[in-house]
Amino acid sequence: MGGNTKVTLILDGEKNDFSMDRDGNILDEGLINGYDIPHSCQGGICMTCLGRVTKGKAVMDDPGVLSDEELDEGFILTCISKPDSEEITIDFDDV
Ligand code: FES
Repeated sequence: MGGNTKVTLILDGEKNDFSMDRDGNILDEGLINGYDIPHSCQGGICMTCLGRVTKGKAVMDDPGVLSDEELDEGFILTCISKPDSEEITIDFDDV
């Protein structure tokens, strides 16, 4: 992987953009950039950090707790997801 991704977060009705390295995870980078993304375990178990990818792609270390249906609908656990496209939009309101 490697390279940079422009990330757009839809959170509490607002759109926010930041740029991150594709090797980082989306939750951590979002928090570092000052966005109040819901989270708890940070280990891919509690599903608090659930978001839905509406544009672009992400890869998850271990999609274990999400069903195939949820994965097909674009849901990701942002604490264990890395962006995998030049741009990605993640909606936290539509979950
Ligand atoms: S913070 Fe618990 S699954 Fe992501």
